[in-house]
Amino acid sequence: MVWITKVIYAMQQVSLPALKGNIMKTTAIIGGSGLTELDSLKILDEKEIATPFGKASSTLVFGELAGKKVIFLARHGNPHHIAPHKINYRANLWALKEAGAEQIIAVAAVGGITPEMSPARIAIPNQLIDYSYGREHSYFAEDSDAVQHIDFTVPYDDSLRSQLIRSGKGLNIVEMGVYACTQGPRLETAAEILRLERDGCDLVGMTGMPEAALARELEIPYVCCAVVANWAAGKAAGEISMDEIMQNLEQGMTDTKQLLQQFLANVA
Ligand code: HPA
Repeated sequence: MVWITKVIYAMQQVSLPALKGNIMKTTAIIGGSGLTELDSLKILDEKEIATPFGKASSTLVFGELAGKKVIFLARHGNPHHIAPHKINYRANLWALKEAGAEQIIAVAAVGGITPEMSPARIAIPNQLIDYSYGREHSYFAEDSDAVQHIDFTVPYDDSLRSQLIRSGKGLNIVEMGVYACTQGPRLETAAEILRLERDGCDLVGMTGMPEAALARELEIPYVCCAVVANWAAGKAAGEISMDEIMQNLEQGMTDTKQLLQQFLANVA
C-alpha cells in the first residue's frame, strides 16, 4: 500500500507543474489610443501575420509580462495612424487567432456618459450597443450559404471579466457598464450623447465593434478594458480638447498597465 502512495505522490510532483503549464493561457492585448506599446513587455519576437483579409494594423509583438505569454497588437498601428472606421478588424482578430491568442484584453479609450464614468477611470463593460456602420463586421459575410448566427447575448466573456475585475482591486475600477460604439472619427454631438444615455449607454468609444463580435466568431474569450479619456459631449462645460484627452489617458494608461501586470501575475 505504501508504495502505491509513493507512486501517486511522485506522479503528482511531475504532473502538477506540467498541468499548470497547460492551463496558462496566451493572452493577447490590443492596445488602443494611448497604448501603442507595452513598455514592461519583454519582447521575444515580432511578426507580420498574413491573413485572408489583408494586413493587420501592426506587426504582432510576442513577449512575456509577469512571466506569462503575451501577444501585443497596436489597434491603430505603431505609430498611431489608422482611424477607427479604417481599422481592418477582421485581419487583426484573424492574425491574433493564427498566432495562438487564447484570450483577448482589448484596451480602448472612451468618453464617459454616466456620473461614475469620470475621466482617467477604468471600466470593464458588460454590455454594448453598436452604432457603427459600413465596417467589415463578420467572417461569415462573404458566402451566404455558410452564414452562422453567433450568440451574442453577453458580448464580453464573463469569466475573463471577473478575473480582470478581481485583479484590479485598489484601482477604483468601474465593474460594469454599457459601451456604445459610434462610427467616428468625429466625436459626438451633445444630442447624440443624450440619445445614447436614453438608450442605456454609460460609455462611448469608436473601436469596440466589430472587434468584440469577430472575437466571438473566432471563439476567443474577449473583454474590453475601457479607459475614460473625457466626459462625453455635453457632459461637462465647454468643448472636448485633445490636450484633456491625452492627459487623462496618460493617467488611465498607467493604471491599465498596472492592471494588466496584476492580471497576468495572478491569473492568466
Ligand atoms: N466619444 C467617442 N470615442 C471616444 C471619446 C468620446 O467622447 N473619447 C475617447 N474615445
